[in-house]
Amino acid sequence: MTSKSQATPNKAAAIAAFFLAAAMAVPALADVEFRHALDDSVLDLAPIKGEEITDAVKAFRKDGVNPYSGQADALAAGKGLYEDNCQACHLDDGRGGMGPSLVDDVYVNARANTDVGMFEIIHSGASGAMRSFSERGVTQDQILKIIAYIHSLKK
Ligand code: HEC
Repeated sequence: MTSKSQATPNKAAAIAAFFLAAAMAVPALADVEFRHALDDSVLDLAPIKGEEITDAVKAFRKDGVNPYSGQADALAAGKGLYEDNCQACHLDDGRGGMGPSLVDDVYVNARANTDVGMFEIIHSGASGAMRSFSERGVTQDQILKIIAYIHSLKK
């Protein structure tokens, strides 16, 4: 009967309300978008097995600021992680060898100039020997500690 003509405006109103709510929610959810260094695809930041998404990671995903920068405990943890995972190619002081220097101001990948870009490269890899470390079991929280440590190596 008239059900069709009534349903349509209701549905339209519901859709409009949804988009209004979504639009209003955007500023609060203006999270950083993480993209792959090689193909710019949006990264999957779902936790790996057993990973806890820490408050530091949540904050970093919101504003791109690494909460561990300059924090002594995080730097100590980052040092150990760096030695285990990165030193073989980037050397103990980050000057590079099998991989590029991490301590000069010239990065091969321009995105490495920001912590977000560095996170993208470490999490999901770049070219050649620089593989995805999330696939090797390094958590996002650990990546933030490694990044803080790398910055502490700069003179
Ligand atoms: C097996 C060797 C190898 C290991 C281990 C390795 N890297 Fe790399 N890394 C590379 C290579 C090669 C590149 C250059 C990739 C490119 O140009 O796309 C690179 C690039 C990078 C870059 C971008 C630098 C630039 O100039 O663009 C960062 C940042 C980085 N690595 C950090 C790390 C961190 C942190 C770790 C440890 C979690 C790590 N790498 C472990 C080989 C390695």
